[in-house]
Amino acid sequence: MIGKMVAMLLADREHRWERLLADPSLAPSAVEEALRLDANPGFGMPRYISEETVVGGTTLPRGTTVVCSMAAGNRDPDAFDGAGEMDLARRPNPHLAFGVGPHSCVGQQLARVELQTVLEVLLRRLPTLELVGDAADLRARQGLIVGGIDRVPVRW
Ligand code: HEM
Repeated sequence: MIGKMVAMLLADREHRWERLLADPSLAPSAVEEALRLDANPGFGMPRYISEETVVGGTTLPRGTTVVCSMAAGNRDPDAFDGAGEMDLARRPNPHLAFGVGPHSCVGQQLARVELQTVLEVLLRRLPTLELVGDAADLRARQGLIVGGIDRVPVRW
């Protein structure tokens, strides 16, 4: 997620990285927005329906297994204004990157601390950080449930 977050911020350096340099207090909401936009690869989390349930106007019988695409939910225009845009100041940000409910991610606070700390240190220590090459040439890592980007070449 650190690799994806930094790549997202450097991919539009003027509107994202430089905005954070101008206002580092945006780091926590920038982290949430990176999580909203690209935390969950793959098709989603399965859930077993133990009683008849209505979802989106559709009745799901007891015993159904559904797959919940957090990635799709995180770009739901009914839940997020400008759902396709990266808004570094988005608050509140009710994204589903860590799931929801009793099985929501037990490590989410650790993940947040790591992401926020890395971002704050990079902004302070390497303000001239930039991507080498075009963001479109970055390659997604294949075969891992957590996804990620193979290599994020940078210079400063
Ligand atoms: C950006 C980083 C991370 C993301 C996007 C993430 C995402 C998720 C998601 C989507 C779930 C499933 C939630 C659900 O079923 O509703 C989950 C569960 C879990 N995560 Fe994470 N996670 C991250 C980091 C971590 C870290 C750092 C740890 C531990 C050190 C961790 C430990 C766990 C565990 C143990 C569960 C299972 C919780 C349960 O079933 O009760 N995760 N995570």
